[in-house]
Formats: sequence, C-alpha cells, structure tokens
Amino acid sequence: MQVTTTITEIRAWVRQARAAGRTVGFVPTMGALHVGHTSLIDAAAERCDCVVVSIFVNPTQFGAGEDFARYPRPLENDLALCAEHGVDTVFAPSPAEMYPRENLTWVAVEKISEPLCGRFRPGHFRGVATVCTKLFNIVGPDLAFFGQKDAQQVAVIRRMVADLNLPLEIVVCPTVREPDGLAMSSRNQYLSPQERKEAPVIYRALQRSAELIRAGETDSAQIVGRMSEVLRQVPGLQIEYVSLVDADTLEDLPQICGRVLVAVAGRLGPTRLIDNIVVDGPAK
Ligand code: PAJ
Repeated sequence: MQVTTTITEIRAWVRQARAAGRTVGFVPTMGALHVGHTSLIDAAAERCDCVVVSIFVNPTQFGAGEDFARYPRPLENDLALCAEHGVDTVFAPSPAEMYPRENLTWVAVEKISEPLCGRFRPGHFRGVATVCTKLFNIVGPDLAFFGQKDAQQVAVIRRMVADLNLPLEIVVCPTVREPDGLAMSSRNQYLSPQERKEAPVIYRALQRSAELIRAGETDSAQIVGRMSEVLRQVPGLQIEYVSLVDADTLEDLPQICGRVLVAVAGRLGPTRLIDNIVVDGPAK
C-alpha cells in the first residue's frame, strides 16, 4: 500500500491506474477509522479495481468551539486498517497541502444544507461540500463511497454532484452499528463508560418511530412525541433535533409519506451524536 501526502503524487498515481484501464473507487474520511469506514472500503474494493482512501481532518467543516483540535488522529492505526482491507493508496495531506492560501472559493448547497445539523453547525456543510469538491478534483475517482450514517451529508453531496455535473457516481452504504445499536462513530471514543451505556437510546427512539410508521401512524408530531418519551430515559441527553423529513429534499413532513428520513442529534456530555433511519411511509 502506498501513502501519498501531496496532490502531485496522488494525481500521478491515479493517472497511472487509469492508464492501466483500472477503475478507481474513493473513500473520503477524517481518519480514526472504525468498522463503519472499513465497510465503505470493502464496498469500494468490491465495485472498483483499486481503492483510494483519504485521511484528512478538514478544518473548514468545524465551527469555532467544535472538536477540530482534539479530533483523534491515530494515523499509524488507520494505515494498518487500510492495508488490512486492501486499500491501494492512502492520501493523507497536511492542512497546508489542501489549503495553501486563504480559501476564497466555496461550494454551498442551498436549502439541503440548512435544516437538521445545518441549524446547529453553521458553515459545516459548506466546508464538507468544498473539501469533497477539492478531493474529487484531486483524486478523480469513478465512484465515491459515503455512509448513510451522515444522511444530510449524503443528500448534500448527491445534490452537489448532480447540480455541478461532477463526473463521478456516489454510492451510499448502510450505517454500521455496535451490537447494542449505537451507530459507529469516531466521536464515540469521547463517551465516558456511563455515557456509552446510555448512547443507544438514540437508536431505540429511531426504532420506535419505525414501529409507529409501520403500524400506520402518519402524524409526525405524534411520532416525535413518542420518540421523545424514549429519549427522556437518558436525562443527560440534550436533544438538538428529532425530525421527520423527506429523505431526498430534507423538507419537513408534517404528514408521513414516501421515503422518510427520521433523524436525531443530541449531546451526551461533550459528545455530539447523530443517527438516522429511512422508513417507507404510505405512497405519496
Ligand atoms: P468521517 O466522519 O471520517 O466519515 C467518513 C465516511 O464514513 C462518511 O461517508 C461517513 O458517513 C462514513 N461513516 C462514518 N460512520 C459510519 C457508520 N457507522 N456506518 C457507515 N458509514 C459510516 O464524513 C466525513 O468523515 C467527512 O465529512 C468527509 C466526507 C471525509 C469530508 O471531510
């Protein structure tokens, strides 16, 4: 496995792979890799001839007072995991390589970036869309793999790729969970042992919404109320939002219909947790 840190090197590597007729799968990450990430790598390896993983903690998607400085950066471990999963090349640039000057050019996906996490993390999706555009331009993959865990990120990236005619396909892979239902996340390591025990309440609330929708409930306010009862079992959980929205447009759905994204975000101590499921409501 090759590790590249400069744009020139990774471009040369991908150019050679393409010249040899190989398709390129790309998995962008911020490192601190876990089974959620390796599931994307495995999916990429299945669909593509070679796999590029980027490891870059992108400063422009963190707000002031967020965890950019303390975000885990266990590079040696990450490289070992990538090698185990058959990654061909890791692209691990420095912040100066990615942002050599004040960045004046931004990609902003309107509307879809605004609800849910967008309300609590202003500028976050602008940072994500911008760095993904840069990474797509640098790596030039055929396919790029994203996790459903970050449902709004998926919606933003898909719309950006469509609106800007970016020449790649986005593949979305299911959320990988711990046995107790907690969605895997690099941020789970911030949880104290007590908080770790409490964190699966979010998934239990999501499951409650699925049960209600399958039983025919279509009033979102009712569903949010019932989910909140579950979430209140953990008094320390500070809910940011419990939302039922259209899975593609992320528009509010007062009445359930079509593909519904049920999304929850909250803080447990200093740790921000997000999770979601997609449930089929009655046809539109
Ligand atoms: P990061 O949080 O490292 O996640 C990288 C990819 O792994 C994302 O597509 C994310 O949705 C996916 N992922 C994380 N946890 C997962 C889980 N439990 N199951 C399935 N997939 C999971 O998302 C980012 O980095 C950044 O915003 C990035 C796209 C790299 C841009 O900086």
